[in-house]
Amino acid sequence: MTDRQYSDARLAGLYDRLFPPARATGDFYLPLIMAARSVLDVGCGTGALLAAARDAGHAGRLCGLDPAAAMLAQACAHAGIEWICGGAAALSFSHEFDLAIMTGHAFQVLVGDAELRAALAAVRAALEEGGRFAFETRNPQARAWERWTPQRILQADDGQGNTVRVTFAIEAPFDGRTVTFSQIYQSPAWDAPCLSRSVLRFLDAADIARFLAEAGFVLEEQFGDFDRGPLTPASPEIVTIARAR
Ligand SMILES: C[S@@+](CC[C@H](N)C(=O)[O-])C[C@H]1O[C@@H](n2cnc3c(N)ncnc32)[C@H](O)[C@@H]1O
Repeated sequence: MTDRQYSDARLAGLYDRLFPPARATGDFYLPLIMAARSVLDVGCGTGALLAAARDAGHAGRLCGLDPAAAMLAQACAHAGIEWICGGAAALSFSHEFDLAIMTGHAFQVLVGDAELRAALAAVRAALEEGGRFAFETRNPQARAWERWTPQRILQADDGQGNTVRVTFAIEAPFDGRTVTFSQIYQSPAWDAPCLSRSVLRFLDAADIARFLAEAGFVLEEQFGDFDRGPLTPASPEIVTIARAR
């Protein structure tokens, strides 16, 4: 089931304001996109990254895929890019792209082994021989969920002068595989708060390597952050570039 933060048109409309990508994320992915002829963004959300690539002069094929119609409705505001409504496993492209990306920790929404395997197989099939798959997932050793407490408040203007606030609460802590948490959205313009519940999977580097190998990828590069620092136990991210073999 799609999280309410993606399926609710009101919350999807606030996504880019509340969760603007860090500069380092764009600095990492944009050069990869600009260097590729054809790019598939899996779990593209509001499509901001592909739109930035087009604005920066990417002249090739850009295609974004997301199962949440409300997120994709935001993406569709950007012309000249293919937007497809669907989940990663439903991809039916065959050897059409030389780069696939999953950004904004979209990889972590693939919770079950079967779902993850199906998604990786579909991404692999969509890539040409030698094509690359770049994505990041939060490093479980850095235990980011310990900072997702009610004290963590995000806020942004909704564009109409109302301040929307988001607070976090852990529902089920890390069990060696997943974390379940809620985000509570509040606005003075709404009658009641909106609650969005999410489950995210936290894979370590060994499991990532295993799933990638099974799906027909070889690990090309792996970093602990978007500045291409080494992966250590304290690294916030596991940033991976894999090549289709
Ligand atoms: C955290 S958002 C990231 C969006 C975007 N990539 C970004 O960087 O802002 C995760 C996205 O993954 C999408 N998603 C959920 N399930 C998915 C699936 N099975 N396959 C692909 N995307 C999925 C959600 O709808 C959501 O838009």
